[in-house]
Amino acid sequence: MQTSWIPFIPQSASTVSGRVDALYFYLCGVTVFFTLLISGVLIFFVVKYRRRSPFEIPRPIAGSHKLETIWSVIPFLIAMSMFAWGAQIYFQNSRPPKNAAEIYVVGKQWMWKIQHSTGQREINELHVPVGRKIKLIMTSEDTIHDFYIPAFRIKEDVIPGRYTTQWFEATQPGTYHLFCAEYCGMNHSGMIGSVIVMQPTEFDNWLSGNSSQQSPAVAGQQLFQSLGCVSCHGANGEGGRGPALAGLFGRQVFLTNGQTLIADEGYIRESIENPQAKLVSGFGPIMPTFQGQVSPEQLIEIMAFIKSLQITNPQQTTAPNPKAQTPAAPSATPAPNKQ
Ligand code: CUA
Repeated sequence: MQTSWIPFIPQSASTVSGRVDALYFYLCGVTVFFTLLISGVLIFFVVKYRRRSPFEIPRPIAGSHKLETIWSVIPFLIAMSMFAWGAQIYFQNSRPPKNAAEIYVVGKQWMWKIQHSTGQREINELHVPVGRKIKLIMTSEDTIHDFYIPAFRIKEDVIPGRYTTQWFEATQPGTYHLFCAEYCGMNHSGMIGSVIVMQPTEFDNWLSGNSSQQSPAVAGQQLFQSLGCVSCHGANGEGGRGPALAGLFGRQVFLTNGQTLIADEGYIRESIENPQAKLVSGFGPIMPTFQGQVSPEQLIEIMAFIKSLQITNPQQTTAPNPKAQTPAAPSATPAPNKQ
């Protein structure tokens, strides 16, 4: 593991880490400046205005609106600059770019299980290419964990029953620390690993080196068959007794209660585990719950399959989702859109 030239600061190895550091140094600089200024002035006044004789009576102070305005407005402006700068970095970090490659992360006591879109799996190791945008889609099998890569300055909770995301673009090949940053039981401190950043060609070789593994989308397609989803949603997600799934991901969905939402990972998971919660307009509550019957990893596979289902007919009102992966899964035949 490499270290940085400044003590206690981890190496900077992603496109955002320099920006996070700049904000951090600004906060430290402001803090140090005012600490020195206030303690210096304090000591100076203590000496200057010390009591020189037991009978001395100090001169009364009338107060000054001008002075009070200045010492209110300046700190306000400094605080707002911190807020605006921090918010800008926060928004950049919390919105994964549309063209980012997706990698799935499942946390469990006490390991990180990682799966690439080609099917390649790894435990406590994350191989990524340098200079490519990577989006992590994360969930937990048991308790709350937190996926933390100090060198990239990214950190996000990994929560059971929910999907959280974070993204990064590594800028330097190397091996970096991966930590769990949320106390998760006895071996929390051992829930660590390595992020291995490789040259893109090297990474592509590594990724294709184990091609015998099924991609999540293909595994998801098999689950789609074996769990019987096909009988209502169609083999290619064209719909039937259940809503059409082709092109669903990222699209607007109209519900029976009049609400609309965008189909994301959280919505798809909820619709599998608790189908009655958000019924699609025009469909009855006929789907059984799959709560407890599919593991978090199987859910990810089914989701990858649903994402891979594209509408091939351009006449369709909704455009295919550009984010969806297109591995070796079949594309759907055009289906009447019931929603
Ligand atoms: Cu997982 Cu701490």
